[in-house]
Amino acid sequence: DKGNYRHFMAKEIHEQPEVLGHTLSRYLDYAKKSVSLPAAEKVDFRSLNRILISACGTAYYAGLVAKYWFEKYARLPVEIDIASEFRYRETPVIDGDFALFISQSGETADTLASLRYCKANAAKIGAVVNVPESTIAREADVTFATIAGPEIGVASTKAFTCQLAVLACLAIHAGRQRGTLSEAAAAALVDDLAAVPSLAVQALNCETQIEKLSQPLSRASNALYLGRGTNFPLAMEGALKLKELSYIHAEGYAAGELKHGPIALIDENLPVFVIAPHDAIFEKTLSNMQEVAARGGRIILITDAAGDHESGGVAGDTVIMPNVPDLVAPIIYALPVQMISYHTAVFMGTDVDQPRNLAKSVTVE
Ligand code: M6R
Repeated sequence: DKGNYRHFMAKEIHEQPEVLGHTLSRYLDYAKKSVSLPAAEKVDFRSLNRILISACGTAYYAGLVAKYWFEKYARLPVEIDIASEFRYRETPVIDGDFALFISQSGETADTLASLRYCKANAAKIGAVVNVPESTIAREADVTFATIAGPEIGVASTKAFTCQLAVLACLAIHAGRQRGTLSEAAAAALVDDLAAVPSLAVQALNCETQIEKLSQPLSRASNALYLGRGTNFPLAMEGALKLKELSYIHAEGYAAGELKHGPIALIDENLPVFVIAPHDAIFEKTLSNMQEVAARGGRIILITDAAGDHESGGVAGDTVIMPNVPDLVAPIIYALPVQMISYHTAVFMGTDVDQPRNLAKSVTVE
């Protein structure tokens, strides 16, 4: 049931404050300001040497964000692969490896095959899954549920942000167990996560503006998304969403890679989305924006009030997000990114919930 929404995707975008709240409540102890994994989901991160993540599509981008978190907060090295590559590249899986699979449906063929590949040798098999009775959930040693509810739109939206919420909790938990995060530092991160549902409501408030700026976009034939740090995977996620929904060719790049090739694409016809909260590396992204602007590129900047102020009018359009702590930026900034592709597709008249050539669950290779 779409409720009052025109598409399932719109409904699912708007459900995010609520389902993020449900998902976080499962893993957070708000009173103790700590992460508390449900009894069935205990993992001893002290005995692990490495995390191997495999997933496909949007779930893979959630895993890429998690790599930054596990490495930063738990000092745990993470290797991440697209599942269709991982399963065939004969990578060694060794004792002390925690193999982690991320999947909304829990039925994706390549992700499942990667899980089975790890079975004999990994210390532990974990899965972040939205469908609790799915094959991946059943075959993993430990399943971390996302409580996103059924996701009907082919484009993953609420499952993605809920995956990020679970992975953030796991990274904090791992950091506490391994002694790389102090109790106070973990409590501060838990506070950051606790604010996510209300920050998501604020992020949704920019929808009217996004709808307006999406109209001219529907005439573009290419687009570029740039970000740094955890917003780099989000740039790739934005490009994937635009491709699958509006059939506009888009690429996501680490902003620092601009000079190494893609800057040659810049002209007045190329929309360049920049995902850049005002964080420690904002200055670096700002200089990338100046390079784009100097070549006539049309910048759509997604930032906060401080970033807007500092950007000094370099962007053609600016979408202002609430101030967010670093940890939760990729969760909150996912919402405008999703709305951009949604509204562009609506203007173009494509089939938003069932884009051509795509299936919700890819159970064949
Ligand atoms: O069910 P899964 O999370 O395993 O699906 C993985 C991908 O097929 C999926 O995320 C796909 O990329 C989406 N259509 C993206 O919006």
